[in-house]
Amino acid sequence: MKILITGGAGFIGSHVVRLFVNKYPNYQIVNLDKLTYAGNLANLKDIEDKPNYTFVKGDIVDASFINSLFKNHRFNAVLHLAAESHVDRSITNPLEFVYTNVIGTVNLLNAAKELFKEDSSQFVKFYHVSTDEVYGSLGETGLFTETTAYDPHSPYSASKASSDHFVRAYYDTYKLPCVISNCSNNYGPYHFPEKLIPLCINNIKNSKPLPIYGKGENVRDWLFVEDHARAIDVIFHKAELGTTYNIGGHNEWTNIDVIRLLCDMMDEKLGREKGTNQKLITFVTDRAGHDLRYAIDSTKLQNELGWKPSLQFEEGLSKTVDWYLKNDEWLNNVTSGAYAHYYEKQYSDSNK
Ligand code: NAD
Ligand code: TYD
Repeated sequence: MKILITGGAGFIGSHVVRLFVNKYPNYQIVNLDKLTYAGNLANLKDIEDKPNYTFVKGDIVDASFINSLFKNHRFNAVLHLAAESHVDRSITNPLEFVYTNVIGTVNLLNAAKELFKEDSSQFVKFYHVSTDEVYGSLGETGLFTETTAYDPHSPYSASKASSDHFVRAYYDTYKLPCVISNCSNNYGPYHFPEKLIPLCINNIKNSKPLPIYGKGENVRDWLFVEDHARAIDVIFHKAELGTTYNIGGHNEWTNIDVIRLLCDMMDEKLGREKGTNQKLITFVTDRAGHDLRYAIDSTKLQNELGWKPSLQFEEGLSKTVDWYLKNDEWLNNVTSGAYAHYYEKQYSDSNK
């Protein structure tokens, strides 16, 4: 089995690549990543020399590159994670999200369709990794299920919703063997420090202000990234084709409560007097079109495929903080931009 994983140098992608490379030595894993600001090969240092792993630098928006990559490698399956993923960036530069998230996904679908057409027994799966943000915003009650109507509000979620529709259209029209999962907010090691939790960990460490949008009353449903990677593994291997699974931890928190918990936890870990870090909390102008609440019902995944989250939030958050405090070099390289040179040091051309 030769599997293409796209976006494997990013946050979630690196955990998925690590899990697949280590757990399935008989699979050949090809990691395709453009190495945008969010892609960092240092996330994969521990597995980069494994015999079943190859890195290819490339852009999913480039159709002729993608077509020749598929012709050369003749993948048996695709696990698609590459995306522009930050809502605030989508507000300032929506087109970039259309290119990568929509056109990039359609380029991959087209290339997979050609392989499937040539030999349907050889190309067995196109797994598209998506987000709960496609469902829009909940009020005080209710949960997103797999049948909730799509209602995206940000350019990011609109682009992901569009890509999901294309994947379903390729299943319906061409019978391309597709599966989709929609997951809630992830947190954990290797998370780029522009997102709420790693940004605040870094700012607390450096005693800098913690910017909370609006009143901090927005609710997110947090899942530890390794639990997401395990869910992807289960769905990849067990899901019926043409189906969708929601992934989430039944773990809803207002932003302000997450940050208060983080502040108190880091007071203790950094030996600061209790209450010191909470003084850094700063309420700032709200995000435009800010979704009030996301919450996932993952009953289908739990009942049908037997997955469940392994960590309580406090435990996962504590593990995450410890990782960031221990991995100073990773964090400093990312915040200084030095990580961008890691690729040039490690690879002289697009293949290892
Ligand atoms: P990320 O931003 O950390 O990583 C994205 C990766 O894609 C990077 O390595 C980047 O270099 C690569 N990439 C971007 N544009 C590319 C292009 N044109 N060609 C090739 N590679 C490109 O994102 P993430 O948080 O790891 O998210 C991964 C996937 O999971 C995304 O599809 C996202 O929508 C989805 N998702 C994320 C979350 C979350 O909480 N982070 C939750 C649910 C779903
Ligand atoms: P984020 O980590 O950007 O994920 P998403 O927008 O995909 O849910 O944001 C999580 C929540 O935190 C969201 O409600 C926006 C809020 N937020 C802040 O309050 N301040 C910040 O600096 C950031 C980045 C996010």
